[in-house]
Amino acid sequence: MVKNKVRKAVFPAAGLGTRFLPASKSIPKEMITVVDKPIIQYIVEEAVESGVEQVILVTARGKSALEDHFDKVYELEDLLDRRGKKDLLEASRKLWNMIEVVSVRQHEPLGLGHAFYCAKQVVGDEPFLGMLPDDMVDSPGYPCAKQLIDVYHKYDCSVVALMKTPPELIDKYGMVKFEQVEGNVVKMFDCVEKPRPADAPSDLGIVARYLFTPEIFQALEETKPGVGGEIQITDAIANLARKGRMYGCIFSGERFDAGDKFGYLQATVHYALKHPELGARFSDWLKQYLKKI
Ligand code: UTP
Repeated sequence: MVKNKVRKAVFPAAGLGTRFLPASKSIPKEMITVVDKPIIQYIVEEAVESGVEQVILVTARGKSALEDHFDKVYELEDLLDRRGKKDLLEASRKLWNMIEVVSVRQHEPLGLGHAFYCAKQVVGDEPFLGMLPDDMVDSPGYPCAKQLIDVYHKYDCSVVALMKTPPELIDKYGMVKFEQVEGNVVKMFDCVEKPRPADAPSDLGIVARYLFTPEIFQALEETKPGVGGEIQITDAIANLARKGRMYGCIFSGERFDAGDKFGYLQATVHYALKHPELGARFSDWLKQYLKKI
């Protein structure tokens, strides 16, 4: 067994999804479909491809569709089996028999940091991935989560995914202060949540994928609630960075914020064009369609 193997991934999915209203009123936004799978399934597949064995969902009232999606649907699978629909049977079975799914509750949406803290008991004393289930990263052949795992194994320290952020988006991300260690790896000294572009320490922002050692739970305990009583994960990351215990990985891959309507549309076109059965047809149609605009 690899020393400190990363076996668990936490998916905080207890937020209210206000940016996706009205679609997210009674359907968890993580369950909204991109082409033919819910958004969260793409991200769980990324986890599985990166070696994860246990998925820990942080959910809330009204989000039980998430747990159901990763469960066996006996009646459906029996029917598909009897009708000889092998492809559909495989599609339905995919994942639930490859991973263990555990869920914990966040009783109030008290922020992303608080959501991660809710998973503390289930995570235990081992490193784990944090993966935002509304943020899609396509890195064929080398999943973003695996890129973080490799940096973790080299430096034995927590790592966050970083991306070059255009000036108009700087006030939406945690922006980091760092020194370069090698190629795409940096050591972080600090980070600032949603600064004005003039106050940002650099143009590198934290996005959607994290590899935490259990040190993050201590850092979260030391984090004071901010606006709206929310506990921000960026504050706990800054705490570890100031102690010299945080690295960053400028990941390779294409990222879509599918929790936002525009990002969702971009993700839909991207994954539709890549789809093995629909891609070529969709591409022809799209080219014709664009000529009309
Ligand atoms: P977001 O800020 O994108 O999600 O958090 P949100 O709060 O649901 O959405 P908006 O901003 O109102 O549209 C990123 C992820 O963290 C989870 C969300 O479910 C989302 O998947 N989250 C956020 C929690 O689990 N708990 C929280 O308290 C906040």
